Amino acid sequence: MKYKHARTEKRIAMGAIGTLMAMSGAMIWADDSTATPPLALRKIMQDMDKNMLIMADAISHKDWPLVERIAPLIAEHRQPPFIEKMRIMGFVGTSIGKYKAYDGSVVELAQAVGKAAKSNDVQGAELKFRTLQASCDSCHNEFQKSFVAHFYGKKDAVQ
Ligand code: HEC
Repeated sequence: MKYKHARTEKRIAMGAIGTLMAMSGAMIWADDSTATPPLALRKIMQDMDKNMLIMADAISHKDWPLVERIAPLIAEHRQPPFIEKMRIMGFVGTSIGKYKAYDGSVVELAQAVGKAAKSNDVQGAELKFRTLQASCDSCHNEFQKSFVAHFYGKKDAVQ
């Protein structure tokens, strides 16, 4: 009788732990491929994308004051919150140097576009802008697919 009782309690306790683990798993790691909340990084990327479009348009219209205003928005793009950064670093692992270098070149090149715009250097602005686009692409080629697979579940990665 006593033995049976203890087993029941143990089962309940195990069940509660299981539920807790499942909940925290969903909240912290969010590996559910259906309802995964996006990384803050994704919103940061979407904002950079918008600013790149504005910049491309401004360059083609030789609207240098606008190019100058947009450049720091790209160069000083937000960083993901601390915990997300830790998750990203954990996932990227030994490639973190490369990942940071790509991010660094976005900063540098966006500033360079702004500088060229300031001195009405059409060719310089166009050239730096193309190089900037290429550094977005390089990082995506290397990391985007595996990020999506890892942080959002395998389903998304297949497309
Ligand atoms: C250091 C690496 C890195 C650099 C540099 C980088 N990206 Fe990204 N980008 C990523 C990763 C990783 C993802 C996937 C994020 C996700 O899906 O949550 C991504 C995703 C995106 C997306 C897709 C967002 C969506 O809705 O799925 C866009 C758009 C984007 N980046 C734009 C840019 C632009 C524009 C630049 C250059 C100005 C840039 N990125 C530079 C790593 C980078």
